[in-house]
Amino acid sequence: MEPTTSGARPRLTVLGTGYLGATHAVCMAELGFDVLGLDVDEHKIALLQSGEVPFYEPGLPELLRKNLEAGRLRFTTSFEEVGAFGDVHFLCVGTPQKQGEFAADMTYVDACFRALVPHLRDGALVVGKSTVPAGTAERLAAELARTCPAADVELAWNPEFLREGFAVEDTLTPDRLVFGVTSEAAEAKLSAAFAPVLELPTPLVVTDFATAQLVKVAANAFLATKISFINAMAEVCEATGGDVTLLSKALSYDSRIGGRFLHAGLGFGGGCLPKDIRAFMARAGELGVDQALSFLREVDAINLRRRARMVDLARELVGGSFGGMRVGVLGAAFKPNSDDIRDSPALDVAAAIQRQGAAVTLYDPAAMDNARARCPELGYRESALEAAGGADIVLHLTEWSEFRQMDPATLSDVVASRRIVDGRNALDPARWRAAGWTYRALGRP
Ligand code: UGA
Repeated sequence: MEPTTSGARPRLTVLGTGYLGATHAVCMAELGFDVLGLDVDEHKIALLQSGEVPFYEPGLPELLRKNLEAGRLRFTTSFEEVGAFGDVHFLCVGTPQKQGEFAADMTYVDACFRALVPHLRDGALVVGKSTVPAGTAERLAAELARTCPAADVELAWNPEFLREGFAVEDTLTPDRLVFGVTSEAAEAKLSAAFAPVLELPTPLVVTDFATAQLVKVAANAFLATKISFINAMAEVCEATGGDVTLLSKALSYDSRIGGRFLHAGLGFGGGCLPKDIRAFMARAGELGVDQALSFLREVDAINLRRRARMVDLARELVGGSFGGMRVGVLGAAFKPNSDDIRDSPALDVAAAIQRQGAAVTLYDPAAMDNARARCPELGYRESALEAAGGADIVLHLTEWSEFRQMDPATLSDVVASRRIVDGRNALDPARWRAAGWTYRALGRP
């Protein structure tokens, strides 16, 4: 492509500055591109422009400030400005689960796309990164061809595989890049936009639109299936007296299986895996291939059963009823190193226990504000020790390193009863038992 800036680098814009978009904008600037980020949320844009990341992501605030200062990164709420600035535009807005349905809500993608199109310059490339139902790219490409006033404008699809908590690393050094394109020109423009990453080198798979969209949901479906597989084994371990952590360890030495995403516990949550497998099933139904994905129903069901099992086990340990009990909860985020509480197993369990009559007091190192906004009925404390104060039982629900390293003896002084359930199989049972605690976990004796 003929870049409008000096040198060989296209100017990039990133639309939507959530977990994905903000990280993408900052990391592309870090790779040396001039980047303009956009969001319709003025507050978020003001925060980013002042060097504050509106969510918790290790390493991101430092890179944001560095690149703002270097003048490579700016933020705006103006689609006009974005259209005038950019050669390559990344769509990074969210596709949450629709209320009361399995399908993905495409409102934000469609609105963002339609607001951008009238402002595009000749030769611009629009790149979808959001996780979408198969068929979306084809639909948007047709709309682009029909409605865009500029010449030689194209669409490409480039799914994103970053994990929260490791978002910077995953963006700067991804496992692979996938380019869904329909022309060599689009491929060349995308290659220019990812030149520093491709040079690492990073494996690149060039596909059609359908495959590019499917890679993303297939990857998340596979990861969810792997987690639910080991959690199903945890259920069987509970019935047989086996230990799922040892089972998982033994399986992991088989290089065909591998140990990653084979960690049994409270199961998966977050803004991606749960809603993506549901949207995938919904789309498969529309395409007439629902049978191909019916196993994902089971994956979802196994996952949700872990939460119920956690509640049952905790209730059993306090004598069969939560009435009048104090329950200390460690963790609210859906996983450590994140403040994200979307579909969080930890928060779900805490809320369910409170509904059953317990007084729940909770602490999380990063997700307190988000948890309080979602579940104002729970008690919030400023530290693990305070959350466990006077507790009849302590529940370890998000495996922050702060909790993993906790000294059982320190906690012994503040609780009413030394009982702990490790929902993440991340504490050392021998250490807790040696300190006089009743230690229980999911999937092991
Ligand atoms: C997930 C994928 O891992 C990313 O590749 C993908 O880009 C992202 O979704 C997305 O679609 O945007 P993320 O939601 O950040 O990333 O979280 P994961 O690290 O995948 O963890 C998901 C959940 O699975 C967490 O609740 C975690 O506690 C749980 N988990 C993970 C387990 O219960 N066991 C495991 O062995 C691994």
